[in-house]
Amino acid sequence: MIRKICCIGAGYVGGPTMSFMAYKVPSIEVNVVDINQKRIEAWNSDDLDKLPIFEPGLKEVIKKVRGKNLNFNNEVDKAISEADMIFISVNTPIKKSGLGAGYASDLRYVEASARRIAKNATGHTIVVEKSTLPVKTAETIKKILFSDDQQSSHKTKKSFSVLSNPEFLSEGNAISDLAFPDRVLIGGEDLDAMNKLKEIYLNWVDNDKIIFSNLWSSELSKLTANAFLAQRISSMNSISAICEITGGNISEVEKAIGLDSRIGEKFLKAGPGFGGSCFKKDILNLVYLCRSNNLDQVADYWQKVVEINEWQKERIYKKVVCNLFGNVAGKKIVILGFAFKANTNDTRESPSIQIIKDLLQENAEIIINDPKVSDKQVFVDLLGDENPSQEKIYIEKDVYKASIGADAIILLTEWDEYKFLDWNKISSIMNQPAWLFDTRCIINKKEINNTSLNFWQLGDGFTNQIN
Ligand code: UDX
Ligand code: UDX
Repeated sequence: MIRKICCIGAGYVGGPTMSFMAYKVPSIEVNVVDINQKRIEAWNSDDLDKLPIFEPGLKEVIKKVRGKNLNFNNEVDKAISEADMIFISVNTPIKKSGLGAGYASDLRYVEASARRIAKNATGHTIVVEKSTLPVKTAETIKKILFSDDQQSSHKTKKSFSVLSNPEFLSEGNAISDLAFPDRVLIGGEDLDAMNKLKEIYLNWVDNDKIIFSNLWSSELSKLTANAFLAQRISSMNSISAICEITGGNISEVEKAIGLDSRIGEKFLKAGPGFGGSCFKKDILNLVYLCRSNNLDQVADYWQKVVEINEWQKERIYKKVVCNLFGNVAGKKIVILGFAFKANTNDTRESPSIQIIKDLLQENAEIIINDPKVSDKQVFVDLLGDENPSQEKIYIEKDVYKASIGADAIILLTEWDEYKFLDWNKISSIMNQPAWLFDTRCIINKKEINNTSLNFWQLGDGFTNQIN
């Protein structure tokens, strides 16, 4: 029976997953460790609004278990040595240089974690890959864990089983995804270890939702799931452009095809392009895997999904500039939403970043509003510095104040608060002719009709023809 769990990496995945596990299984002690001291301090902060990540329902879970059977700390080696099961949830960014640069995952943190586990583990330890990893990473982890050097440097007898248990959490929805998963996938070769992990999940997940596979199917299933989801978005985004030139409407097309039970209604929303830490990285990983194995046609196929995504962001930026008479220099442009989607403070790969950078190149003045993203994060993403000295980017937490004298508003994240704005009031304080660009298709056209705003909605051939 598993009594102690260690999770290496207190990030968007490790933090919520382990908190929820501790909450559902009080008999297991869960230690979440991280090399980042500040991150651990934030997880331990008394003010639950200061947790390092915002996730609906997370603070309620933390309140119930932190300090009981859930601990966040920096004592990585100690936590490893005491654990029966260790989850690896460290980050796996795309390599910036060297072999596979721009495509392959940087596995240095995974490797470092494996080496640390090899050195400090005691007795039999089950090592679980939680991070999304390139196919065959479990092989690398096994080689490190089972290497003679690592074993002989310690006198104590130790043994390992390696499992893959990918996360399918969608940010902003993580607690609900943890509570009611579509499936829990456990890949491995050691049935006893697989059953031990399954027993933990059985505390709240139905037996028939927990499936077993071999290690490589498990690793590949995670990449495939993300590639498919991203592909649906790129498909809809490509159709949104066709709607605009033909007079169609992407929301109507979405509804019509989504009712086909073979297609299904989820993940069909056109928008400014997918963001988040996973989709792009995982597809590029798949592309790299294919290219390295001479499957160029397959690589090209998946690469297009990413290319359409980049094109969609560029297309939106160009639409804005063209509608503002081909010139945005010195014009005030309000950005509604900086997070890559609603209900998260995460900005990784957010489409807002590229679109704003392109507008800054045109010398526009940018005013950013986001309900959850910190000012520091905005500056780091746009300028690479928490406290930059610059005069072109402003942050304003009040949408109405942000709109005073603005030439255009671009809605880029579908936050609920943006659905209920008083557009009459906003249009009256903007500089005329004023523009509203809705890239998430959440604004009711009828509300805009009563204002002086010029309106562009993504994938709406009607507003495109008027303007
Ligand atoms: C990570 C991966 O990026 C993703 O591929 C996978 O699907 C899930 O795990 P995430 O949790 O969102 O995603 O990453 P991040 O929020 O960056 O957290 C990773 C944490 O690991 C950081 O807090 C970092 O400090 C920590 N870390 C990293 C370690 O504790 N040790 C290391 O050696 C490296
Ligand atoms: C994704 C996967 O959903 C999850 O299973 C995996 O574990 C991690 O990657 P996440 O990145 O948190 O989760 O968010 P998700 O809800 O999938 O959205 C990703 C991006 O796609 C966002 O930028 C979102 O705005 C966009 N999106 C999503 C659309 O543009 N249209 C849609 O219909 C759905």
